Amino acid sequence: MSEFVNGTDTRPPDEVMNLRSAGPGTGGIAPRARFDSGLPELSLDGDWRFQLWPSLDAAPGGVGAEDFDDSGWGSIPVPSSWPMHGHGQPAYTNVVYPFPVDPPFVPDANPIGDHRLRFDVAPEFLNGALLRFDGVDSAATVWLNGRLLGTTRGSRLPTEFEVGNLLRERDNVLAVRVAQFSAASYLEDQDMWWLPGIFRSVTLLAHPAGALRDIFVRAGYRDGRGELRVEVDGPDAGQVRVSVPDLDVHDLVPGTTLDVGPVRPWSAERPALYDLIVSTPVQSVRLRAGFRTVTVDGAQIRINGNPVLFRGVNRHEHHPDFGRAVPAQTALAELRLMKQHNVNAIRTSHYPPHPDVLSWADELGFYVIDECDLETHGFTFVEWRNNPSDDPAYREALLDRMARMVERDKNHPCVVMWSLGNEAGEGGNLAAMAQWSKNRDPSRLVHYEGAWRSTAYVDVYSRMYAPVDEVETIGRFEDPALADPALDEHRRGLPFVLCEYAHAMGNGPGGLSEYQHAFENSTRLSGGFVWEWVEHGIHRTSPDGVRYDAYGGDFGEPVHDGNFVIDGLVSADRVPRPGLLDFKKVVEPVRMAVDDDWRTLRVANLHDVSDLAEFALRWAVHEEAGQRCAGPLEPVRVAPGDSAVVPLPAEVGDARAAGRVLTVSLVLAQATAWGEEGHEVAWCQAGSVPVEDAGAGAAVTAPRTGDGGLVLGPAVFDPATGLLRSLNGLAIDGPELGLWRAPTDNDRGAAEGVADASVWEELGLHRMVSRTVSVTASADGLVVVRRSGTAGRDHAVDVTYRWSSAEAGLSLAVDVVPVGPWSGSWARIGVDFTLPATLTEVDWAGLGPGPRYPDTGQAQRLGWFSSTVADLSVDYTRPQENGARAGVSRLRLRDPGTGAQLTVRGPEFSFSARPWSRYALAAARHTVDLVPDGRLHLSIDHQQHGIGTASCGPGPLPPYRLTPRAASFELRFT
Ligand code: GAL
Repeated sequence: MSEFVNGTDTRPPDEVMNLRSAGPGTGGIAPRARFDSGLPELSLDGDWRFQLWPSLDAAPGGVGAEDFDDSGWGSIPVPSSWPMHGHGQPAYTNVVYPFPVDPPFVPDANPIGDHRLRFDVAPEFLNGALLRFDGVDSAATVWLNGRLLGTTRGSRLPTEFEVGNLLRERDNVLAVRVAQFSAASYLEDQDMWWLPGIFRSVTLLAHPAGALRDIFVRAGYRDGRGELRVEVDGPDAGQVRVSVPDLDVHDLVPGTTLDVGPVRPWSAERPALYDLIVSTPVQSVRLRAGFRTVTVDGAQIRINGNPVLFRGVNRHEHHPDFGRAVPAQTALAELRLMKQHNVNAIRTSHYPPHPDVLSWADELGFYVIDECDLETHGFTFVEWRNNPSDDPAYREALLDRMARMVERDKNHPCVVMWSLGNEAGEGGNLAAMAQWSKNRDPSRLVHYEGAWRSTAYVDVYSRMYAPVDEVETIGRFEDPALADPALDEHRRGLPFVLCEYAHAMGNGPGGLSEYQHAFENSTRLSGGFVWEWVEHGIHRTSPDGVRYDAYGGDFGEPVHDGNFVIDGLVSADRVPRPGLLDFKKVVEPVRMAVDDDWRTLRVANLHDVSDLAEFALRWAVHEEAGQRCAGPLEPVRVAPGDSAVVPLPAEVGDARAAGRVLTVSLVLAQATAWGEEGHEVAWCQAGSVPVEDAGAGAAVTAPRTGDGGLVLGPAVFDPATGLLRSLNGLAIDGPELGLWRAPTDNDRGAAEGVADASVWEELGLHRMVSRTVSVTASADGLVVVRRSGTAGRDHAVDVTYRWSSAEAGLSLAVDVVPVGPWSGSWARIGVDFTLPATLTEVDWAGLGPGPRYPDTGQAQRLGWFSSTVADLSVDYTRPQENGARAGVSRLRLRDPGTGAQLTVRGPEFSFSARPWSRYALAAARHTVDLVPDGRLHLSIDHQQHGIGTASCGPGPLPPYRLTPRAASFELRFT
C-alpha cells in the first residue's frame, strides 16, 4: 500500500501533487503485463464531476476528502481531454516547450483539473482490488475515500493502485486532481497538441488473494518449431496451470522452457495466434500467443529467419473532436484502413498506444516499434543544457517509463522493437533504459533514432528524413566511418530503418518511389515509416456553420507552430489523402508487369512470408466506351522473394488494340479481418488511351473581323491584346502564361536551404504582368506575341501563341522563351484561362481518377474519367496547390444546364480546374476561407515542378525540378 496513505492530508497541495519531483509517480504497484484477468472488472468511465482551476494556488484544498463539496462543479466525460469539452484551450507546439526551460519547475499558471466520482461496487471487489488508470495527461494525484493513493506520471502509461482495503459497497469517492504541467512535462515534448485530461479508461479490477499479478509469455520460433516459456508472478507456481490447447500443451510448468513442436509462426503477413490459458484456483486468463523470433543477421532484420521490409507509418493518437481520447472503433477502423493500404508496420510515435491497439495489431498483423513516452526535444533550443536524458535526477523516471512500457506490452507478438523514445538528445539515462530492456526482454531489438551517431546501445541504425542518396549509401555499407573503430564496426553490423521519412504534409509526399526502390535493393535497408498517419486537425465551425479543421495558433496560443501539426496520410477524420493511395501503390508487396503483346504476366513476390496463396488474379480491358472484356486468371504461387512469368489467356492478347488499356489486379481471394474478398492489393497496366494530335484537321481558315473582335473558327479575340474573348460562345479570358502555383507545404519547406516558394516569390512569379508585343493576322491564322515580366526586375518570358483554325476546331502552338537572368525554379509552365462557372462537369482521358505531379500520383491509372469541378479539389486543411490531373490527352468541360462545352486535346498535359483563383488558394488559411468567385479557373500545364517533402526533409529530386527553360507545346480546342 502507498506510503502516502496517511488519513486526511494536511500537507500543502503542491507537496501532495509532487509537481517539482523529477522522479516517477508514487504509490502504484510494480508495472506488469496488461491482460484480461478473467476476474470481475468495473469500468469507472462515464460522467465525473469536474472543475478547472487556473493554477494550483487557485484550486481549493481538501479536494480528496469524501465530504468535499463539489456541488457547484460541472461534469466531464472520462476518458477525455478537457480542452475538447470547453475547459481551457488546446495548444500546439512542435519542438519548443510552452513554458520556460527551467527544469524541474513549471510556471505557477498551470491548469489544474479536479475530477470526482462516486460509485458503488459489488462485493467481489472487497476482497482485494486494483484501480487502474490507463492514461492521465500529465500529472495526477489520486484519493480514494479520503485516502491519498499516490501520484501518476508518464501520461501514456498505466498506473495501478491497490485499493481493496479502502473500498466499500456503497458510495465510494474517487478524486483525481490533474495538473497539466509538472517536472515530468519536460519528458513529454512530443510534436502534438498539449491536451491534459484523464484521456484513457479508469477501471477497478478485482484482485483477490491468489490472483495472478503478472504473466510473461516468451514464445519463440525456430526451424518450424515453437519454444514456449511462461513466467508468472502471483500465487505459488504449483497452483498455476498453463496450457495451449491447439498445440496439445497442457500443464506447462511456469518458468520452464518447452519445445512445443511444429507451430504456425506469427508474422504481419500471417498473424497466427494461439490461445494460451493460464489458470489458478481463482481465475482463468486467456492470452493470444504468437510464436516468432526477431534477429539481426548480416545487418538484416529477420523475423522467423525471413528478411522483412517495413512498409510503415508513424501513428499518433488523435481525434478531431475528442483529442487524445480516441474512440475504440476509430482506432480499429484506422488499423484496418492501414492494412487495406499495404501498411505492414507501425511506429507508435512517440508513446505507447492505447493497449487495445497492440491486441488488434497482433490479430490483424503489423510489425510494431513500441515507443516509450519520452521526448525532450525542446532542450535543443538551450543547446541541450540540463537535458533530462543525461540528468541523474531524472534517471529513475526514465527507467520507470521504459519498464512500464515493456511490462505492459511484453506479451504482444506484434512488438518487434522497443524504442526508448524520440528526440530526447543523448545521455546516460537512455543507455540505462536500453540496458534494462535488454536484460528484461532480450527477444526484441532496441531502437532509438537519437543514438544514430554512435549506435552504441541500440540494435538498429535508425534515421529520419535522410535523403535517398544517403540511404542508398548506407545500404551499400559505404557510409563514412565513425572515428571510433569499435563503434564503427558495431554500426556497420546493424540493419537500417528510416523511422521517419516522406513527410506527408499537405500535397505530397513526393519521391516515395525512389525510397522504395532503395529499400528493395539493399538487404541492409529494412524499410521505413512515413511521417505520419493522421493529421491532428481539430474540428471547429465557422460563423456560417461550416465545419473545418483548426491548427496551431487558432486557439490564441502565444507560442505555436501553426499548421505543422497537420501532416498525415489521412485527414483527422481518417479520410485518405492522395498520398495514402500513392503509398499503397508504391509499397505494393507484389509487382506485376504485362509484356508488350499482352501474352504474359510477370509476377515478382516481395512478401516476406506469403507465397500468394491468399490472393486471386483478375484482368480487365477498358476502352473509351467502358469495359470491353474481363475475367479471372489462374492463381499463381510464387515463393517470397521470387518471381515468375505466367501466360495470360489468349483472350487477353487478342483484345489488345490501340486505345485500349489492360489492367491486371491481385486481390484477396477471401475476406480477411481487414479486407473484403476481391480487395485489390497490387495492380499493373498496359496499353494507352489515344494521344490525340493537337494540330490535325482539314484546311485552315483565315481570321476575319466581326463580333466586335477578330474571329477565328469558334473563337473571338481581342484585336489589341490578342487574348481570347469567347470560345464556342463561352466567355473566356486568357491565355496568360502561368509559372506559379499556390505554394504547397512542401514548397514552403526550407529543409534544404531556401524554400521553393520563397524562390518563386523572390522571382516574382506570383505577380507577373504582361504586355502584348504583336498581334499578326494572316491567312494561316493569328500569331500573338506577349512578354511577361515582374515589377522591378528585368527577367521576362516571351510567349508566342500561334492560333489556327480548321473545321470547327482551334489549334494553339505555344513557345515559351525565358529572357534575361533567370535562376532557381518555376512552379510550372502552362497557360491560364477563366471561363463561366457553369462548366461544372469534367471528363478526361489520361491518368486518374486522382491527382498527379511529377513525383506523386503513382496510384493513378490510365483510363477515362469523369468528375465535377468541386470534386477535383483536395480539401487540404491549409489550402494549397492541389488536384492537378496529369498525362491527359483530352479534357472536356461541360455546362450541364445548357450543354455548352469545351474540349481541349493535346499530347500529355496536366490540368486543374477550380472555382477560385490560385491567389485565393494561396491566401486561404483554412478550407472555409475558399469561396467560389463566379468563374472557372482553368490551367493547362505543360510541365510542373515536383512536390518533394521539404516541409521536413528533402525537396524534389533533380529530375523533378523545373528550372527556367524554353518550352513548346500544342493544344487543340473544340
Ligand atoms: C520529427 C519528429 C516528429 C515530427 C516530425 C515533423 O523530427 O520526430 O515528431 O515533429 O519531425 O513533423
